[in-house]
Amino acid sequence: MVLLGLMQFSVLSLCFLVLTTFPYQVSSRGIFGRKPNGAYPSLDDGICATSVIVHGYKCQELQVTTQDGYILSLQRIPEGRGKGSNGGTRKQPVLLQHGVLVDGMTWLMNSPEQDLPLILADNGFDVWIANTRGTRHSRRHVSLDPSNLAFWKWSWDELVTYDLPAVFDYVYSQTGQKINYVGHSLGTLIALASFSEGKLVNQLKSAALLSPIAYLSHMNTALGVIAAKSFIGEITTILGLAEFNPKSLPVDGFLKPLCANPGVDCFDLLTELTGKNCCLNSSTVDRFLMNEPQSTSTKNMVHLAQIVRHGVLAKFNYVRPDYNIMHYGEIFPPIYNLSNIPHDLPLFISYGGQDALSDVRDVENLLDKLKFHDVDKRSIQFVKDYAHADYIMGFNAKDIVYNSVLSFFNAQINT
Ligand SMILES: *[C@@H]1O[C@H](CO)[C@@H](O)[C@H](O)[C@H]1NC(C)=O
Ligand SMILES: *[C@@H]1O[C@H](CO)[C@@H](O)[C@H](O)[C@H]1NC(C)=O
Repeated sequence: MVLLGLMQFSVLSLCFLVLTTFPYQVSSRGIFGRKPNGAYPSLDDGICATSVIVHGYKCQELQVTTQDGYILSLQRIPEGRGKGSNGGTRKQPVLLQHGVLVDGMTWLMNSPEQDLPLILADNGFDVWIANTRGTRHSRRHVSLDPSNLAFWKWSWDELVTYDLPAVFDYVYSQTGQKINYVGHSLGTLIALASFSEGKLVNQLKSAALLSPIAYLSHMNTALGVIAAKSFIGEITTILGLAEFNPKSLPVDGFLKPLCANPGVDCFDLLTELTGKNCCLNSSTVDRFLMNEPQSTSTKNMVHLAQIVRHGVLAKFNYVRPDYNIMHYGEIFPPIYNLSNIPHDLPLFISYGGQDALSDVRDVENLLDKLKFHDVDKRSIQFVKDYAHADYIMGFNAKDIVYNSVLSFFNAQINT
């Protein structure tokens, strides 16, 4: 019954990312229990306070300004609790990049023994959590305000061009060491696109890609497909290419009719949108729904829908040839050619057999693009029972996936 009221806007989560229903109001109650002084942390206190320090870890809130003026929040967990540090050796940095419609908090929904950032910290890594422009803690700009249309004039091309490089430069300058990267969902797409253009690779040690999306032609949820088809002209008229806030009325009005399509089951959205997640604890899902989804730009959603419809990984298509020529000097937007990713870059890829967004056939297409990658630099894991959200919130993700990520990173330490 609860879902009934939630279903309309949930469609939006349509593609990419993680689940998706969420309450209309976020409770002001903290979600991770009490602070030492007995007060509940508020979500506005920041990710360190609500989700890291409460578990007894050190955590710093930091800021990075992108070249186009966005002020992004970044959390650093420099060490584990108690033991966990790897002797006297310098710690290796790991940067975690979330997907679309969520923020960095999404990595911290379970207990400390189950959450990837804290597991990495306890195993001797210096952990950094990125938060994409437009999400709760990354809504500032040197001159624009989120109420300005201009604040939302970006798609994932700008995450490739500005967000990732700003965060990489900062982490690299602070640690003096090459970075191990973990991306989930859109966090894999923007990384692959960057690497294909030769960006970041000089500051990168290795990359672990969970639930990779690069091709989306086989995305097999009826809801996702219908939503992607709808993400064309009309939505940009309604929303004016501004903020895509799942909780807002215009978005609600756009999404509601989609649930009326035959074959779309809006009553089981999590499954409908991300696949049959095997391993989510209901209390974890409740926490998730209190924090997500987060805003993104409408232009970003349109760009993602273009990948679903066109089956190629290309820059934003302005559709009008004269606009494309103005931006790119060509009638069609340039593609990101994944075959150009350096063949000796250590890559770990894990994909799930039940994932509705990162469909097995699309991942196979991605792996085909990487077929000339050095065999000993490519490590691929297939998890038959896993779907999209299991990768970040599964109660058994440590055993199934994170231990393999740790082994992969540890194997790079002396190379
Ligand atoms: C992508 O790059 C590869 C290797 O550099 C090249 O052989 C291929 O033709 C390129 N594909 C496209 C569509 O440009
Ligand atoms: C599910 O969550 C509850 C409440 O937080 C917890 O007690 C239980 O151990 C969790 N189950 C698993 C398998 O993690």
